Amino acid sequence: MALNPADFAYLANYVKSSTAIILTPDKDYLVESRLAPVARRVGVNGIAELVGALRKNSSPHSEIGQLISEAMTTNETYFFRDVKPFDVLKTTLLPEAIERRSQDRTLNIWSAACSSGQESYSIAMTIKEHFPQLSNWRVRLFATDISKSMVERTREGIFSQIEINRGLPATMLVKYFTKSGSEWRVKPDLTKMVEASTMNLAGQWPLLPRMDIVFLRNVLIYFDLDTKRAIMKKVVTSLSKGGTLLLGGSETTMNVSSDFDRLPSGDSFYYKLKESAALPNSAHARGVRFGTSPAMTSQTLS
Ligand SMILES: C[S@@+](CC[C@H](N)C(=O)[O-])C[C@H]1O[C@@H](n2cnc3c(N)ncnc32)[C@H](O)[C@@H]1O
Repeated sequence: MALNPADFAYLANYVKSSTAIILTPDKDYLVESRLAPVARRVGVNGIAELVGALRKNSSPHSEIGQLISEAMTTNETYFFRDVKPFDVLKTTLLPEAIERRSQDRTLNIWSAACSSGQESYSIAMTIKEHFPQLSNWRVRLFATDISKSMVERTREGIFSQIEINRGLPATMLVKYFTKSGSEWRVKPDLTKMVEASTMNLAGQWPLLPRMDIVFLRNVLIYFDLDTKRAIMKKVVTSLSKGGTLLLGGSETTMNVSSDFDRLPSGDSFYYKLKESAALPNSAHARGVRFGTSPAMTSQTLS
C-alpha cells in the first residue's frame, strides 16, 4: 500500500468530511488508482506527497481538496439505467404527479447525484416521448451532483459513442441528439429542460423547490448509516405531498427512513411519501429559481 496508515486515515477523514464517502482501508487500490492522476496533475511525486500537500491546505474549497474529492467520487451511469425505474416513471409516477398537479400545472423532478447527466436526459426523453400534454406545463428538471465536472458535463449534454451505446435506444438517438465530430450532442429542447447545479447531499442544502419526483439512485451506497438517515430526512422535507422517490437497485429505505410506503408498479416498485410525513405544500415555495439563492452559491463546490 502506497499510503501509511496515518496518511490513509487522514485522507479517509478528509474525504468523509467533504463528501460523506466512506473509504475503508480495503479501498487502498481505489485510492491509488484515483489519486495517482491527481498527484501527476498537481505536480507532486506520488500520493503520499499528495496527502502531504492536502495536510497543508485542507479547505474543501482548495484546488487540491476539490481535485481529491472529485477523484474519489464514482460516476458510473448510463442512459435508462436499470430500465425498470423509467417504466415506473412512465406508467405510475408521472401520471400520478400530473393528476396531483393539475391545478397549478407545474412539475418539479430532481435527479440528485446526476453524474454526467444520462439519468436527467433519460427522464427528459421519457417526458417528451410519452407526455405531450406537458408541453404547456412548467416542467423543471433539476440535476445536482457534488462533482463540478459532472455538473458541467450534464449542462453541456455531450456524450461519446461509448456512452451513447450504453442504454440509449437508436430511435431516441436519432430524435434527440445531433452528431458533433465523434460525439453526440443533446438537442437544445432537452438541454433547456435540465437545470444543473453542484450540491453536496451531505452538506447544508440550498433552498429547493418542492419536488414531485426524486431520483436518488446509486449514491446512498457510498455513505454510512447516519448520513443516509440524515439525507433521507431532508429528502422527506423536499418532497411535495404525495411525492415519490426512486432509489438504486441495491438501496432501500429499510432501517433508513420510515416516512415512505414501498408500493408496487408493474414488476417493480417505488417509494411514496406517507401522508403523515408530508409538510403542507405551502411550507415551501414552488418554482423558486434553483441555484441562485445565496445558500446555494455559498454551499456548493462551484
Ligand atoms: C454512481 S453515480 C450515480 C449516478 C446516477 N444517479 C445513476 O444512478 O446512474 C454516483 C454520483 O453521486 C455523486 N456523489 C457522491 N457523493 C455525493 C454527495 N455527497 N453529494 C452529491 N453527490 C454525490 C458522485 O459524484 C456521482 O456522480
